[in-house]
Amino acid sequence: MMTRSLTRSDLAALPNYVPGRTVPGAIKLASNEVPFGPLPGVVEAIADAAQNVHRYPDMGVVALRDKLAARLGVDPARVVTGCGSVALAEHLARAACMPGDSIVHSWRSFEAYPIIAATTAAESIKVPNTPAHGHDLPEMAKAITDRTRLVLVCNPNNPTGTSVRRDELDEFLDAVPEDVIVVLDEAYREFVTDPQVTDGLETYGDRRNIVVLRTLSKAWGLAGLRVGYLVAQPEVADAVRKVVTPFSTSLAAQAAAMAALDAEDEMRRRSDIVVAERERVYATLSGWLPDVPPSQANFVWLPLGARSVEFAQVCEAHQVIVRPFADDGVRVTIGRPEENDAFLAAAESYLGPEADLSHPN
Ligand SMILES: Cc1ncc(COP(=O)(O)O)c(C=O)c1O
Repeated sequence: MMTRSLTRSDLAALPNYVPGRTVPGAIKLASNEVPFGPLPGVVEAIADAAQNVHRYPDMGVVALRDKLAARLGVDPARVVTGCGSVALAEHLARAACMPGDSIVHSWRSFEAYPIIAATTAAESIKVPNTPAHGHDLPEMAKAITDRTRLVLVCNPNNPTGTSVRRDELDEFLDAVPEDVIVVLDEAYREFVTDPQVTDGLETYGDRRNIVVLRTLSKAWGLAGLRVGYLVAQPEVADAVRKVVTPFSTSLAAQAAAMAALDAEDEMRRRSDIVVAERERVYATLSGWLPDVPPSQANFVWLPLGARSVEFAQVCEAHQVIVRPFADDGVRVTIGRPEENDAFLAAAESYLGPEADLSHPN
């Protein structure tokens, strides 16, 4: 007798989310984390919060929401926090899409996007990146149909580090129907230095269909506690609040986020180090591999195609863990200067002028 699957049969076709690997003793440059430890005050705030973990957290996340809203200059009703910004992207899809609707996004982009679409029973429409590895916004606009409810713009894009500039985005947003939500996923906003890569909230936040997604996982150093937020017009923010998993911004996460936001100067000092290192790593790599796209994030992309996995293995043999995307490229997170030196030494052995000729560039 044929037994019916206990779970959705279409899940078999869905790729698993692949986290960056942690190898004891090796340098981890695989998960776009910042390497400097928690911001000052964060550990103490978590320790204090620990006294109360037998209680549920504030479900409205009022103190943190108000603090974020004041910092961003928006009405608190427009801010929703969640268990990482990836959870908020899921909630948005749930709030916007019915089965059979579509979500348009670039590809390659954040690997969670197709998973989020599929688990919402929405169709994921993947628009190939340009030859320069960035979003092809005109093609993305063309991919929007009557069934499209959400468009995801990852700016800067994970994993390629490319970004879309204001003039391109202006034109694109004018082309998107006003009843389709455009998510500006700005997880890496704090590392952006190009003045033409505009702050989505400042520039477009007043539009009815714009949602800006941000996170405290990256520059703010809270990846392990899971705090993200979105800013939308109240109509969309209220809908997301309806579908958010109750209490999903934990007590410790709320306390840590409040403390991290108080350490903004130190966050900026650390981000400046990351940016300076990004430019140094980029300059060296692009001397060996001309196609490396400039990055506005805390990682760089090496479009190594079929050599990606082999390159990651070479790095691992040098005790450096990077993140290969098979047959496409390798994403390398910017670490501390000495970690980046170790990576560059590994990369040089494969890509540099003296590299073994069995791996021709
Ligand atoms: C583009 C982008 N968006 C969202 C996220 C999710 O971050 P978190 O859920 O930690 O806030 C990531 C994490 O890698 C990302 O790269």
